[in-house]
Amino acid sequence: MQIHFAPLQGYTGHEYRHAHAVHGGGVDTYYTPFIRREKGTVRQKDIRDITDPDNKELHLIPQIMCSCVDDFNYLADTVQDQGYREIDLNMGCPAPMQTKHRCGSGLLPHPDLVEALFRQMRVRPEVRFSVKMRLGLERDCEWRALTDLINEAPLQHLCIHPRIGQQMYKGEVNRAMFHEMTKALRIPIIYNGDLVSPADIAGIEKAYPALHGVMIGRGLLARPTLALEYRTGHEMPVHERRAVLMQMHEDLLAFCTLKYKTDPQVLLHIRAFWEFQEQELGRKAWKKIMKAGNMKNYMQAIREL
Ligand SMILES: Cc1cc2nc3c(=O)[nH]c(=O)nc-3n(C[C@H](O)[C@H](O)[C@H](O)COP(=O)(O)O)c2cc1C
Repeated sequence: MQIHFAPLQGYTGHEYRHAHAVHGGGVDTYYTPFIRREKGTVRQKDIRDITDPDNKELHLIPQIMCSCVDDFNYLADTVQDQGYREIDLNMGCPAPMQTKHRCGSGLLPHPDLVEALFRQMRVRPEVRFSVKMRLGLERDCEWRALTDLINEAPLQHLCIHPRIGQQMYKGEVNRAMFHEMTKALRIPIIYNGDLVSPADIAGIEKAYPALHGVMIGRGLLARPTLALEYRTGHEMPVHERRAVLMQMHEDLLAFCTLKYKTDPQVLLHIRAFWEFQEQELGRKAWKKIMKAGNMKNYMQAIREL
């Protein structure tokens, strides 16, 4: 069973992915956070993220987000121009700013739009497409109207996050509906949602032995060794996990220091690395890092880990 690192806008940029691949490991495939067309073009920041040379050292699938054929083709051309032959289509983003434009999970109640995008995939047989989706935008049964379209689409896999868009990332994942989808769909399926320990991964693999893979987001941000621990069957003690965190932090701090000119900017960006680690570090140590008002206090908090 494959392990994919979920795309997380603001967290899994090229520098993070590289640090993770070098020090954390255990992941088969990484994704870029979604790339979209904004005012007719793609942000330079997003272009840099797909063109960074470090990407060559890992298996990376760029993710695009759009709702119309014109944007789909523009984004696919942009990604293909950089040499990629795999593209993931985001049909799961729950942010109202996107769903109101029928992007992300905003596509799910519109089979006609989905059909038009899937038809465009056939025009690019050289590309292996995949889709990441939720159950629906407002209702957990919206996916049913897409069943035939998905089964007939040229997809290498489908990743399912079994929540609806309106839930954002809260509330229970709907395992019953995920189960129904695995029965109705005939393409390789990847499960995504709330996997935070090696036992969670083993549990889903046991429940669905035919699963193509799992995709993990916040669980890997919180515990970057999670995939490796699962792969090796060896649960790392805290001090080993901490050592990996420190190595990743060293790389990312060096990157931020080079990229950002002032300490407040460096602090702002490096803090994202710790954001999901309250449980891993303990509340007191975590708070000290997150509340450090200057570089001196920040480095002191890091040394105390
Ligand atoms: C801050 C944040 C940013 C995200 N950005 C993206 C994104 O760019 N593309 C995407 O498909 N999903 C995005 N997601 C969703 C995650 O990829 C994933 O589906 C979600 O976190 C559930 O998986 P998890 O429980 O393993 O974290 C984002 C989630 C969060 C919390």
